Amino acid sequence: MAMKGVHFLVVFVFTLAFTFVSASDPSPLQDFCVALGDTKNDVLLLLHMIEVLFYAVFVNGELCKDPKLVVAEDFFFSGLNKPGNTSNPLGWMATIVNVMKIAGLNTLGVSMVRLDYAPNGGLIPPHIHPRASEILVVLEGTLYVGFVTSNPNNTLFTKVLNKGDVFVFPIGLIHFQLNVGNTPAIAIAAFDSQNFGIIPIANAIFGSDPPINPDVLTKAFQVDRNVVNYLQSKFQGNNI
Ligand SMILES: *[C@@H]1O[C@H](CO)[C@@H](O)[C@H](O)[C@H]1NC(C)=O
Ligand SMILES: *[C@@H]1O[C@H](CO)[C@@H](O)[C@H](O)[C@H]1NC(C)=O
Repeated sequence: MAMKGVHFLVVFVFTLAFTFVSASDPSPLQDFCVALGDTKNDVLLLLHMIEVLFYAVFVNGELCKDPKLVVAEDFFFSGLNKPGNTSNPLGWMATIVNVMKIAGLNTLGVSMVRLDYAPNGGLIPPHIHPRASEILVVLEGTLYVGFVTSNPNNTLFTKVLNKGDVFVFPIGLIHFQLNVGNTPAIAIAAFDSQNFGIIPIANAIFGSDPPINPDVLTKAFQVDRNVVNYLQSKFQGNNI
């Protein structure tokens, strides 16, 4: 009886642990697995294909670069000192450093971004990262940031951040950042995924390809048909 209880507890705890682990990228099973990606070097790729036939260097379904050929550059990116161009309608730019930029990030479950916000209202509009939580530190300026919890509460958590302040956006929740200062703002954010993904709410809803049937949106947002038509025309073919 006691044994059975312990057994149940162990299974329960393991199930719980597994649930948490699977919430972000799976843990790597080796030091690294530098992504070959869509390599421009066809000779190198061919060599790898031949090698794979003999050694099978697939990890998590991905083809990894032969560890003997891995170099420091596979773990390197340069340029986060450069300001992003915020001359666009919302006034922001993200310089993303994910597995597409650093092949050595493959299987490691982390990535990073530099965010630039134009003075007086530069906005990163409400969006979701489907695969990662985000931790953000303000390097310059003042940001009004927030996220909304899931149903039924839909609680809004907000904060005004200044230089050196850190804020966390939990995985999968809608969040935003607005520059409320009159100088450019800069932030660096890190993610617990090599490929966090971005779902900009307005673009996904009103700019989907092909467009969502307006009947759906008219009813969902409880607005006039011409409001939906207007928003769809505004966001169609308009990527964030
Ligand atoms: C920034 O982007 C705008 C709009 O695309 C463009 O006109 C401008 O030349 C860019 N500025 C720089 C410094 O690249
Ligand atoms: C969300 O709302 C429910 C019911 O309204 C309440 O029981 C629960 O404590 C709330 N959760 C949080 C995290 O506030």
